Amino acid sequence: MFEFTLEKTSEKSKARAGRIVTPHGEIETPIFMPVGTVGSVKGVAPRELDEIGAQIILGNTYHLHLRPGEDTVAHFGGLAKFNSWNKPTLTDSGGFQVFSLAKLNKIGEEGVEFRSHLDGSKLFLSPEKSIEIQQKIGADIMMAFDECVPYPSEKIYVEKSLELTTRWAERCLKAKTRDDQALFGIIQGGVFPDLRRRSAEQICALPFEGFAIGGLSVGEDIPTMYEIADFITDHMPADKPRYLMGVGTPEDLLNGIERGIDMFDCVMPTRNARNALLFTNSGKLHIKAARYRLSDEPVDAECGCYTCRNFSRGYLRHLYKTGELLALKLNSIHNLHFYLSLVKRARNAINNGFFEDFKKEILDKITFGGD
Ligand code: GUN
Ligand code: ZN
Repeated sequence: MFEFTLEKTSEKSKARAGRIVTPHGEIETPIFMPVGTVGSVKGVAPRELDEIGAQIILGNTYHLHLRPGEDTVAHFGGLAKFNSWNKPTLTDSGGFQVFSLAKLNKIGEEGVEFRSHLDGSKLFLSPEKSIEIQQKIGADIMMAFDECVPYPSEKIYVEKSLELTTRWAERCLKAKTRDDQALFGIIQGGVFPDLRRRSAEQICALPFEGFAIGGLSVGEDIPTMYEIADFITDHMPADKPRYLMGVGTPEDLLNGIERGIDMFDCVMPTRNARNALLFTNSGKLHIKAARYRLSDEPVDAECGCYTCRNFSRGYLRHLYKTGELLALKLNSIHNLHFYLSLVKRARNAINNGFFEDFKKEILDKITFGGD
């Protein structure tokens, strides 16, 4: 069972609000998906994710294949049971992680040979293997196995790669045997509009339940990323979910939503939280800074998260400076709450016809990019 219903499209931009129904529950879009690489959103328990407003979390095929192994996850009844989240999940195919984490990868028509980033052992991933693993992991949404080309890359390489990604996409569809999981295709094509268009036409002609834009936020400048996203959504079907992979900052989310994107994932809120960098309604806040030593203010007076309702900046700074585990948890809860609250407010603004004003009001006040 997988359904996407478009509930509202803005009259002033491509922003849209919708609903996805999966076997593990519903997802309101636009949505941000917290990253739980090995099956856990680092430092944050499912009960806390629930309170934050998370609706779907993401796991990685590559990591879960290495540890604990897909058979172990299957033994426990699939990812959502194994980690007791019991709500919608999505697995990335391993395509991206193999290229970004593993060593010495050899790419051929069949698949990718690489060495584990943990012990250097030789491994092989192909479209068939990725689907086999993802079916055992059992997430509600699986991703096609693709090649995410580095930036910058020669146009001829990007072209050959996107054609390979299309052939792999067809093989993923053929390899899929479970009908209780959805499979999304991934559009590649680097920063070349003609190649992006070709990839979109090829991938969106295939019977996927949703479509993702891959290969962005890999080093190109931000205006280029927005231009590509804007251009691509015009070549994607309106009646299927659109997912911008690995993006981004809060302003990237608002800019993506304005360009017709429904789903996002990024390690930024959790990774930054673990580095003491917090997102607030008045900009970024480095909780380590000495100026917060005696601050009895919350991180963000406008935030309703557990962290902001209960703890001062001074205490959070102390936790971080002393290396307390609680610092990582409380910081992560706040940043994830900020992201989930942002997409919730965006959804509400779309449904009530003022998304563009909402976006302007937020971005006029603050910037989240850079450092
Ligand atoms: N995550 C971020 N970018 C990508 C991509 O291009 N492909 C995949 N599979 N995952 C991603
Ligand atoms: Zn907060």
